[in-house]
Amino acid sequence: MNEFLRRMLFLPPQASSYATLVDHLHFFVILTTLVMSTAVGMTAIFFFVRYRRRHEGQRTPHVETSKVAEALFIFVPLAFFLLWFAIGFRDYVYLSTPPPGSMDVYVMGKQWMWKFAYPEGPSSAGVLRVPMGRPVRLLMTSRDVIHSFYVPAFRLKKDVLPGRYTEIWFEATKEGRYEVLCAEYCGAGHSVMRAEVVVMRPAEFDEWMRDQKRGLPVVQDGEPTRLERPQVYSNMVSQGRVLSASQGCFKCHTIDGAQHVGPTWLDLYGKRERLASGQEILADEAYLTESMMDPGAKMVAGYQNVMPSYQGRLAAPEVAAIVEYIKSLRSESVANAPSKGPLYEPARTQ
Ligand code: CUA
Repeated sequence: MNEFLRRMLFLPPQASSYATLVDHLHFFVILTTLVMSTAVGMTAIFFFVRYRRRHEGQRTPHVETSKVAEALFIFVPLAFFLLWFAIGFRDYVYLSTPPPGSMDVYVMGKQWMWKFAYPEGPSSAGVLRVPMGRPVRLLMTSRDVIHSFYVPAFRLKKDVLPGRYTEIWFEATKEGRYEVLCAEYCGAGHSVMRAEVVVMRPAEFDEWMRDQKRGLPVVQDGEPTRLERPQVYSNMVSQGRVLSASQGCFKCHTIDGAQHVGPTWLDLYGKRERLASGQEILADEAYLTESMMDPGAKMVAGYQNVMPSYQGRLAAPEVAAIVEYIKSLRSESVANAPSKGPLYEPARTQ
């Protein structure tokens, strides 16, 4: 039934864990409305014939509907709409909540291409390799205008905005190559802003990742003399470390837990910080990025608003690298404390 409807509606294969959820709701809505609109149409045609005017001067009788019929007309459709809302909301929560332990991949959109970077490994333009059966979280941003990351086979679509991170996750369930499109008109090359997701068997993926790491030239971490040369980094963390040094971050931020002009970066990621406004926030990727772009927006209580903005001074991939570097700064006690738990609580509904 699922396969039949998928073909009837010309939908691409269902290659992610939530593709079937999205499709099932889609089928449910489409079948219900198809049945009901057909019934209404048939009734109208039947009435045209059955109650046609048979002679001159014939008058339409006055008919009163019963309260019961009226209640049915109101509450049956309403019940369907509420049911769709409930299913849709449950699915929405599922597909906007990355499961703990997801593999992170940074996605950068720019006119007119997609770039992907793995925190511990390589980056690539145009090809995103992922393992089958493991959740992948995409942290996405744009370098110029608004784009939208769209993988029809995964039923995944999310806007990608400049100066801000959006996130989405998926778990690929079928090996293969799937098209990535841009779903937000972004200029002359919008229609050619394509990429590909390659879903690999987990063992193959691990091997590929190992090869990539082995093949990458390694720059000694934090060695400022290498900055003049073409910048090749073994991974985002070491790139972040070099950048932080060259941008002067360490004049105010320590990485050993000591408080200085600004909050320490040690164990900063995932921490709940109390702001000067009394509000509490979670130091996630979005907050760390915002604090580089607009430091005064959410001041941590007890600090002065003295940090300059790095808007325009750091490119999106550089910001991502610094965020990854901050994420890597874990003290023993925090890294080993299981009670701290993941940033994202599991909310899988299936
Ligand atoms: Cu990018 Cu359309």
